[in-house]
Amino acid sequence: MWKSSAAVEPLAVDEVGAIDDFSLPYRQTLRWERPSDPPACPTAFLGQVQYPRPGNTSLAWGARVEGQPVGILSIGVGDGEEGADIVHFFVHPDFRRRGIGSALMASAAQLLQGRRVLSASALVIDPETGSSSGEAFAEATGAVCRTRYQRLTLRIEAGSIDSGRDHPGYETLRWRGGVPPEYLPAFAQLSSSLAAEEAARSDSKRAPEKTDGEKIDALYKSLQMWGYRTYVSAVRHVLTGELVAYSSLGLAESHHRHASQWDTIVRPSHRGHGLGASLKRANMSWAMEHEPELTTVTAWNAIGNDAMVHVNESVGFRHDTGGAVWEWNVSGLT
Ligand SMILES: CC(C)(COP(=O)(O)OP(=O)(O)OC[C@H]1O[C@@H](n2cnc3c(N)ncnc32)[C@H](O)[C@@H]1OP(=O)(O)O)[C@@H](O)C(=O)NCCC(=O)NCCS
Repeated sequence: MWKSSAAVEPLAVDEVGAIDDFSLPYRQTLRWERPSDPPACPTAFLGQVQYPRPGNTSLAWGARVEGQPVGILSIGVGDGEEGADIVHFFVHPDFRRRGIGSALMASAAQLLQGRRVLSASALVIDPETGSSSGEAFAEATGAVCRTRYQRLTLRIEAGSIDSGRDHPGYETLRWRGGVPPEYLPAFAQLSSSLAAEEAARSDSKRAPEKTDGEKIDALYKSLQMWGYRTYVSAVRHVLTGELVAYSSLGLAESHHRHASQWDTIVRPSHRGHGLGASLKRANMSWAMEHEPELTTVTAWNAIGNDAMVHVNESVGFRHDTGGAVWEWNVSGLT
């Protein structure tokens, strides 16, 4: 029996009001958890539930105490996949340690029978103890830590980001809002090889995500629905015409000073020439032409990905916090 008197109910993910009710407690929770981070963007919160990643179906449960929304669990369930991913999971700080988080998880687990794994990212907040409520909860409920990450932040001083040096024999391409159709297959191939490299550094039991041009196109359309302004720079090898690298970042609708650095990959046969660092600089510098208020960029790197940490540090990124991907065995959650 749960210790809480909270009512946990499935939410109609296509009804804006049903999800939007949880936007205010979500923003309050994030402000409390991470006071120095930019406030959560309501459009991204809502969009990520309403418009799931390509190939995923969205499910959500809300917890209320005396009618007041206090917590949400939303997940994306991949078609034909053995696992599911947590998109949002929080309980307002005033209502914790009453079993509400566990009750939300149990509701999800009932619907996920037949799937083996539920994955989530948890942010480590307390630099003294290296732990967080998310990690403590994950450990207590039987999750296993699969990959540890460090977060690095770049603080941009005036003129500190140049547009990267020129690399003879290579040409830089820049796209806003998505990837042009002619580059989608090559971009998807790079993205899949990045996912395979990440998987090799992880203990995850899930297969790495394979993508294709159609899925990449759909992903950037989803990002637009979530309100993100996206910037992608890619490198083309002039002699062969081959796309050999890309770097992407995005700003949430309500963010003007803060961007999230996403993927950066250089094809293995073109590594060792400084393309990665130059490309990252070039992409940020180009984004700044359109985002003049941009002052911080955060990036997540898997522990053990020394090459990417080195690239980021050479650009000026510095470690600030950490996180991890956790996996639950679904059958253990009911
Ligand atoms: C993680 C979170 C959703 C848990 O919600 P909750 O309602 O407090 O969870 P429960 O009450 O069901 O906790 C179940 C057990 O987890 C453990 N636990 C949860 N929070 C803990 C904490 N801060 N410290 C130590 N143990 C904790 C306890 O063993 C607890 O059982 P107990 O209270 O009987 O000892 C909530 O802390 C939260 O919103 N955190 C911030 C967002 C986040 O990290 N989300 C999770 C990503 S995986």
